[in-house]
Amino acid sequence: MRSTGNNINITVNKLTVSYNDMGPENAPVIIFIHGFPFNKSMWHLQMKALKDNYRVIAYDIRGHGNSDAGIGDFFIELFVNDLLRLMEKLKLDKVILCGLSMGGYIALNAVIKYPDRFDGLILNDTQCIADTPEIKEKRQATIKSIKENGIEKYADDSIKNLFAPESFLKKEGKIKAVREMIMNTSKLTLCNTLNALAERKESCSQLHEIDIPVLIMVGKEDKITPLAAAEMMHEKIRNSSLKMIAHAGHVANIENPAAFNYHLIKFVDLVAKKEFCLSDTDGN
Ligand code: MLT
Repeated sequence: MRSTGNNINITVNKLTVSYNDMGPENAPVIIFIHGFPFNKSMWHLQMKALKDNYRVIAYDIRGHGNSDAGIGDFFIELFVNDLLRLMEKLKLDKVILCGLSMGGYIALNAVIKYPDRFDGLILNDTQCIADTPEIKEKRQATIKSIKENGIEKYADDSIKNLFAPESFLKKEGKIKAVREMIMNTSKLTLCNTLNALAERKESCSQLHEIDIPVLIMVGKEDKITPLAAAEMMHEKIRNSSLKMIAHAGHVANIENPAAFNYHLIKFVDLVAKKEFCLSDTDGN
C-alpha cells in the first residue's frame, strides 16, 4: 500500500532512502531531485503548488537529508541507479522528472539511459558539460578545505555564489534555510559528492537523442550554471523550451517560486494532457 506524507523511509539499493509523497493516487507523477548539497525540503513550494493535481515525490539523494550514505564512493551513475530502483520500489513505470543543478545532472543521465521511463523533463539551473580541469582542481581544494576548516566555512563560502545579489537584501529566511541544508550535510557526503561531481561525464553529445518534452529554466543571475549553459542545452534538445527566471540566481525555485511555478505548472499540464507544443510555452 502507498504511504503518503513527509519523511517516509524505503529501502533502495540496501540503503534507507527518505522521501515525501503527496497528491492523488492515480495522477501523473513528478519526481523532484535536489541540488548539491541540499535536500528534498528545497522543493517544498513546488510540492505545495502541484499536489492537488499531481502525485509529487521528492527524495533525499544518498548521504543527503535523511537518506543513508552507505559505504563506497559516489558517482552520478550510482545516483541514477538509486532513482530507477526507487521508481521500481514505488511501482512507478513512467514519471516526469524535475531536477536542479546536480539533480539536473541525474535527471538528464536518467532520461538518456532509460528513455522509455520518462514522459517529460524539467532541467533547472543545470548544464550538460563535464568539469574543466580548473573546476576539478577547485573541487579538490574545496574537499581539502572542508576537511581542514569544517563545514561552516564551506557553507558561508558557497552561499555567496548561490543567490542573486538582491536575494541577500530581501530573502534572509530563504538564505538561512539553504545554509541550514548545507550545514546538515555530513563532511563525508560533501567530499564524496564533490568527487562525484568532478568525475561526471559530459552529456551534451547525447542531448539530440532526447525525444520527450523538456522545459529548461535558469535564474537570470545564476553564476554557477549560467544562461549560456541553459542556451546550449536548449539548442541541442529538439523539444525544449527555455525560460529565464528573473530575481534569481542558482536556486531559482527558492528565490522566485512564483515565476518558477508558473512555468512549471504550465509545462506539466501540457505534458500530462499530451498537448505539449513549443509555441504553447511561449510568453510569460
Ligand atoms: C548544485 O547546485 O547541485 C551544484 O552547484 C552542482 C555543481 O557544483 O556542479
